[in-house]
Amino acid sequence: MITPNENIQMLKEENDRLKRAVEELTFLNDLSRAMSSTMEVQAIMARIITKSIQTIGVDQGTIMLLEEESEKPMQTIIRGVGEENRGGTYRLGAHMTTWMIQNVKPLVVNDLLNDERFTLLDLGESGIRSLLCVPMVLRGKLIGVINLFNKSGGNAFSEDDQKLMSIIATQVASFLANARVFEQVQQSRDVLKKQTVKLQKEVQARYGYDGIIGKSTQIKAIKEEIQSVAKSPASVLIIGETGTGKELIAKTIHYNSNRSEKPFVDVNSAAIPENLVESEFFGIEEGTATGVKKRIGLFEQANGGTIFIDEIGDMSPSSQAKILRVLQERVIRRVGGNRNIDVDIRVLAATNRNLKDEIAKSSFREDLYYRLGVFEIHLPPLRERREDIAPLIEHFIRHYADQMGKVLTGFSRSATEILYHYDWPGNIRELANVVERTVILSSDPEIGPEYLPPDLKSGHDPAMEAETSFEESVNNFKRRLLKNALKESENNKAEAARNLKISRSYLFRLLNQLFESE
Ligand SMILES: Nc1ncnc2c1ncn2[C@@H]1O[C@H](COP(=O)(O)OP(=O)(O)OP(=O)(O)O)[C@@H](O)[C@H]1O
Ligand SMILES: [Mg+2]
Repeated sequence: MITPNENIQMLKEENDRLKRAVEELTFLNDLSRAMSSTMEVQAIMARIITKSIQTIGVDQGTIMLLEEESEKPMQTIIRGVGEENRGGTYRLGAHMTTWMIQNVKPLVVNDLLNDERFTLLDLGESGIRSLLCVPMVLRGKLIGVINLFNKSGGNAFSEDDQKLMSIIATQVASFLANARVFEQVQQSRDVLKKQTVKLQKEVQARYGYDGIIGKSTQIKAIKEEIQSVAKSPASVLIIGETGTGKELIAKTIHYNSNRSEKPFVDVNSAAIPENLVESEFFGIEEGTATGVKKRIGLFEQANGGTIFIDEIGDMSPSSQAKILRVLQERVIRRVGGNRNIDVDIRVLAATNRNLKDEIAKSSFREDLYYRLGVFEIHLPPLRERREDIAPLIEHFIRHYADQMGKVLTGFSRSATEILYHYDWPGNIRELANVVERTVILSSDPEIGPEYLPPDLKSGHDPAMEAETSFEESVNNFKRRLLKNALKESENNKAEAARNLKISRSYLFRLLNQLFESE
């Protein structure tokens, strides 16, 4: 028989248990919400201690976090202690952490004064008589300790208290792991951001107008043209032979436009296979076919910035049609997608073909030509602006000599003469390569003609430049053939004759006849 009094007592206990269960759940819920809304470790730890003190009903609490590698205390958060007693509480917390490093398991001590494990513990003025201590463990490693302390006369710690705090400790440990990763990611992101800004500045400096070398009237006019067009949103079509500086001009325009901090995306149309043109330019929507991942196309990558379509004259007419639509409407649709995506892009294009001829042959779309060529820049080949050769040589010598740590004064007169008269089919790129090569080879401060590549010299024959007779020109040609053949055969005349497909006697006759004065 249960008496009414006993009944009331049972109900009261049941009620207390329920109340506590609700409190615990509220605490856990509150905590997980807080931990998912911020990564601020300090704030979350303070909240855990405060809430633990309330829910368990104790006087004080500390959380001590350990350094990952050394297990040394790194950060301590204390709550429920007046300023004057913090030192004592801190010491006690530190002592429990040392104990925890060795034992790594929850601990309840309800009578601290009479526990033989802690007889040496100096409790000083703290008044603390009982404690609950739980480890925070991550992947088998202790990363922190939560301590709750009660002064004399406070409640004893129960099994349930220990269980609750162990659950909290587990959750906090995984929060801390996330926070650490988050912090590392953030740090690397900051580093990357700084590097990007630095690189961007370097690139901008590199592509200033002064980076375009040349003093010919043509190059001066081009520099003026690009200065006036850079800041406008106009499309620009850059036309010129290989190595004349089309890409350099495109970058200079971009890095001096008001899009300079946005991407510059260059595309070599000639290098994209026909069947990939659409996915490269427009991207792919996820799941277009099984296993297909979403990919952002070049137009989208260039959003806000500039797209440089190189070798546009090599694009097939069907690809041209696709590009034209984007240029007209400034929207794209990813392959397999059904939604239009706006793109804000500036378009620069380049070609070494004569597009007018291509239009006449119907291999280039006239409408695309007019769309692209709002502004046209023609880069003349180097042989049509020989005044630029000298400043370019000087520029490249300085560049490569600096790079290789050599001190060079420049080319000798005769070497300069050869460089000046050569036709430069590969234009400025070829010139840069020749200079680089000679800078590598030359051991004298002044670079002589012997360091120049043979084909430059064979193409250059001073006698050819002068007004010469037909016969003299033919002789010059023969001389060159013989010289080359002898050089190839390392002066073996029999071999040279064989290579030239002439008889040995004829070779000797020619040598006598053509080189007798030498
Ligand atoms: N006026 C110039 N001043 C300084 N460097 C130049 C100049 N013109 C071209 N160059 C350099 O010459 C090299 C070739 O130039 P670039 O790549 O721009 O030529 P391109 O016309 O795009 O050639 P291709 O048609 O072969 O792609 C680059 O290293 C570039 O920096
Ligand atoms: Mg190029």
